[in-house]
Amino acid sequence: MTTDAEPTLETDRELVAIVAVADNDVIGKDGDMPWHIPADLEHFKETTMDHPVIMGRVTYEGILETLGEPLPGRTTVVLTSQALETPENAVVARGIEDALETAETAARERHDGADRIFVAGGATVYKQFLPAVDRMVVTAVHDEPDGDTFFPDWDRESFREIARDDRDGFAFVEYVRA
Ligand SMILES: NC(=O)c1ccc[n+]([C@@H]2O[C@H](COP(=O)([O-])OP(=O)(O)OC[C@H]3O[C@@H](n4cnc5c(N)ncnc54)[C@H](OP(=O)(O)O)[C@@H]3O)[C@@H](O)[C@H]2O)c1
Repeated sequence: MTTDAEPTLETDRELVAIVAVADNDVIGKDGDMPWHIPADLEHFKETTMDHPVIMGRVTYEGILETLGEPLPGRTTVVLTSQALETPENAVVARGIEDALETAETAARERHDGADRIFVAGGATVYKQFLPAVDRMVVTAVHDEPDGDTFFPDWDRESFREIARDDRDGFAFVEYVRA
């Protein structure tokens, strides 16, 4: 018998969404990000290094195009309905519960029991995981660029800002679930 039950996204690890989002909620354009902020790329790398990172197939393919490989030093869990061939540090998942379980296994077996699992977009993936996210690591880009992909509405009341690092044209902001 099939049911319409919501998937349960439970993990003992901290589930962390990481995103760079403009003032107009844009996060992407033509499969890429509509800005180039090297400090943000460095921040993403430092924050996610040696952890599992869940992302959608479109975001994954954008990274392959840019880097020629999945994110080094991390396990990428790629959500897709397709039969993708992936290199050793990327794993396919068929749904969000599967993605979380796969990320748990990677945290245990490949990342020395890492205590965080990152959710790295795009929009379709943020939307599905946001209700379960414990922390948000946000790069707030002070611009209103053209774009075709937007960060979904999120329940700001349920989060409290715990850190803010203002830079030139952007800020690193962190929120935890209140
Ligand atoms: N600014 C940022 O921080 C940031 C971060 C990430 C991405 N982005 C941008 O966002 C854009 C991409 O976002 P997007 O929303 O278009 O695409 P996406 O979320 O990266 O990928 C969408 C694909 O993921 C797969 N998928 C999602 N949920 C699934 C599920 N529950 N089960 C199975 N497969 C699932 C499907 O792949 P199949 O079609 O293969 O089934 C779907 O077509 C790009 O422009 C990217 O640069 C920006």
